[in-house]
Parts: sequence; structure tokens; C-alpha cells
Amino acid sequence: MDIKVLQNIKEENIPKIIGVYCDTDSEIYTEKVNVLKEKKRFNGKFGEIYHVDNEEELFFIGLGEKEKITSEKGREISAKIVKELAKYKIEKANYYVFCKCNKIVRAMIDGLYLGNYKFDKYKTSDKEEFIIQEINLVIDKDLEEWISNEGISLAKSTIIARNLVNEPANVIYPESLANRVKELGEEHGFEVEVLGEKEIKELGMESYMSVARGSDNPPRFIIMRYMGDEDNKDDILGLVGKGLTYDSGGYSIKPTPGMVSMKSDMGGAAAVIGAMCSIAHMKLKRNVITVVAACENMISGNAYKPGDIINSMGGKTIEILNTDAEGRLTLIDAVYYIINKEKATKVVDIATLTGAVLVALGTTRTAVVSNNDDFYTSLEKASDKADEKVWRLPGDEDYKKLIKSDIADIKNLGGKYAGSITAGLFIGEFVGDTPWLHMDIAGTGWTDAPKKAYDHKGGTGVAVKTLYYLAKEEENVE
Ligand code: BES
Ligand code: MG
Ligand code: ZN
Repeated sequence: MDIKVLQNIKEENIPKIIGVYCDTDSEIYTEKVNVLKEKKRFNGKFGEIYHVDNEEELFFIGLGEKEKITSEKGREISAKIVKELAKYKIEKANYYVFCKCNKIVRAMIDGLYLGNYKFDKYKTSDKEEFIIQEINLVIDKDLEEWISNEGISLAKSTIIARNLVNEPANVIYPESLANRVKELGEEHGFEVEVLGEKEIKELGMESYMSVARGSDNPPRFIIMRYMGDEDNKDDILGLVGKGLTYDSGGYSIKPTPGMVSMKSDMGGAAAVIGAMCSIAHMKLKRNVITVVAACENMISGNAYKPGDIINSMGGKTIEILNTDAEGRLTLIDAVYYIINKEKATKVVDIATLTGAVLVALGTTRTAVVSNNDDFYTSLEKASDKADEKVWRLPGDEDYKKLIKSDIADIKNLGGKYAGSITAGLFIGEFVGDTPWLHMDIAGTGWTDAPKKAYDHKGGTGVAVKTLYYLAKEEENVE
């Protein structure tokens, strides 16, 4: 599906979608809408759809009260309308919103793409073959063109992330993930370097290798570089995504129901890869380096075991109490690397890290642990622009004590309680004073029960937009 954003009304003999407020006159088809409102057939209430199939095919969609329109509502209604078009097998339509707000326009574009999203490539029957070809979104003539390009890029990158998560683990494993990232780098304009097992070992990443070595699929350390502000090397944003292409739990094995969806354990990687695509495509004036320590957590004669004591690139020793707490072990070497070898001056790690985060915050908000108030404030602003909610968890000394080990420096399990905090703080042990944010998307990265029209069962593509805006924010462009 192609979305074209137009600032002028293109009169064509194709179906038209007209956004209507409940408390304001419609900008076009005013009389028709007023008659419908008088007859109480259509009131412009948020979410309402009225279909007229005469000589001219029209869809009136309710936007609710004009003062109360939000980007989130724009996203939802657009996803709804795209589903309606598919129902009527409409290939092309003009969508008139006359919207004057950047944030809402981007969200509407997002809703159109995400509402149309399917992951049915493996179906050989019962497959919906119909494809919407083109939607012309008519916006206010005062809005600048790059806004729509940004909206389109972010929606497409969110779909890239969803697809990466939804692909099964027999298709996306470390090597194939690295190859996909190379293609994306060429398409979007960022550099990709991939390290193999030998180089990973040479860098001293014993913690990451302990997780990786149980699998027959070897690890790949994927580095993405986009230097949009070469003169300003003192500012490098480092993004680190958890890239467990499969998490069986290892010897602390997961029960089957918990294991089936563990192809999604690279949701953090998907988010940073998607964000890089838009950061590079939109040519942000910012230096951003991203790494993914991709591997599988499996069982074999060579796998690591509960009770092992291992080392890490940062030099701290770790007592392994549970092989299913593996994500943090891959992430510590990745954050240590990005700070010390790539010279990142700020770091964000993002991971499907703990089941405990679902208990704490459900599927609505991403949990955050941070060592820096200002950096967290930047994240809050970015998450607001993206309509992706975050919530900060505490991280004080009392919690840090929970990961001290009796026989090594730290242990990879903090005990029964505060699991999302101790997991985050474990990673925090390796960032030193570098401003750092840890985002746990175990609750928000995947959905079994879509709640919104733009949701889709499986990977959500969460945080692509937030990370993009975080990179952009400090660039000082509205
Ligand atoms: N990948 C899981 C976390 C997860 C759980 C993601 C549910 C998505 C949905 C992680 O590696 C894990 O297994 N965490 C353990 C940690 C525990 C052993 C301390 C967990 O949450 O049970
Ligand atoms: Mg695990
Ligand atoms: Zn995991």
C-alpha cells in the first residue's frame, strides 16, 4: 500500500473518506453531513463510520469533538478506516482530514500503515489476497512536506520491527538477522559491521559467549553506525537491543507455553534496528551507533549451567543462578563495548528482559531504569511524541544490594521480588557514569490480544518511534 500526502484536493472519481467532527461543520460535503446529523444517522462521534454507496462512494468518519482530537485518536480512526476499505475491496481512496497538526498527521499515516499490517506470508490457504493500492491523504496546505515523509518512514520502520519479531526463530537466527540488517543498512544509509565468534571471544565478551555457546547457531555481534554529525564526536548516542533470536531458558528451561513466543526475545533488537532505519533515512543530524549481541539461549553439552561463575568484558565476575536470566548477560558486554570501544556518550538499552514487568505494568507501559534524571526527561518527551508510554522504576542502593553475590562480584538473579529493577540494575553495573536508560519491553513488545485497530497479534514494533524521537530531540528540530 502506498500513501501519498497531498496538500491540494485531487478530484478523482474514487471513493472518498471524509473526517467529520461532531461539533463543527464539515469542510466538504457540508450539506450532506448536516442532513445526516439532523436525521441522527451519523453524528461525527469518535469512531463512527457511515458509508454512502451512490454514484459517488463516500465514507464519513467520526473524529469526535474538534478540541479533543489527539494523535492517538487519529491513529486509531485511520487504522479503522483502512480495515473498512479492505472489507469493501476498495483499491484507491482519497482521505480528507484537513489536519493542521504535525503530530496528528504523522499518527494518521502510522494508523493507515499499521491498520493494514498483516503477517500471513506462511499461509498457503485462507489468505486475504486483496491489496489496497493507494491512499491519498489530503492535509492542510500549510503543513510541510517532510512531516509526511517522517510519518511514512516511522510507520515503515515499525513494520520492519514487527516483521523481524514475527518471523520464527528457524528463519531469524543470529546470522540471518545480521544479513537482514546489512540489507537494511544499504537501503536506509547506515554502515553495518558484523563480528563472528572469534572476534567476540577476542574482545573478551565471556558473559555474552556463555549464553551463546549452547547453540549450534553461532552468535553474531551486529554493529550499525550512522554519523549524521561528524563534527560533533563528543555526542554519540548508543543504542543496544537485546537480540535473543530464541530463548528456551537453557538448563533453567521454560515450560512450553512460555517458550512458544520466545522468537520475540529479539524485540529490543528489532526496535533499535527499526529506529536506525528512520534515523538514517530522515538524515538526522546526530551520531547514533547501535549494537545487537545476537544469539540463542539453548541447551547442549557445551551450554552454561546454573552455578557457573563467568567473567565479562567489563571484568566483573558473575555467579549464574538461573540460565533463563540470560538477556542481561548479553547486554552487559554490549553496553560495555558501546561505551568503551565505540565511545558512545549516552546509552539506551532496550530488551524483552523480565516477565516481572508484566506483573508490574501490564502491556501498556514500558518500564525504565535510569541513572540520569535529564536523560529520562528526554525519553519522556520522546515517548510522548511517539504515543508510546513509559514509566520509571526506582533504582536506589537498597535494590543494588540484591544482586551482590557471595562468591563472585554479582549474581544474575536478584531474588523473588523487584525482578525488573534488579535486572535493569545488573546492566547498570557496566555503564559507569555514562547517562543510561534501560527500557524493559517484555510487556509492550508483543500482544496476544490486540486492543486497538492498529494492533496486530504478535510483535508490536514498540519503541521504534520513541528511540527515533530521542535521537532527534537533542538535535533541536521540532
Ligand atoms: N525473555 C525472558 C523475559 C520475557 C518473559 C520476555 C515473558 C517476554 C515475555 C527473559 O530472558 C527471562 O526468561 N526472564 C526471566 C528472568 C528470571 C529467571 C529472573 C523471567 O522473567 O522469568
Ligand atoms: Mg530468559
Ligand atoms: Zn530472554
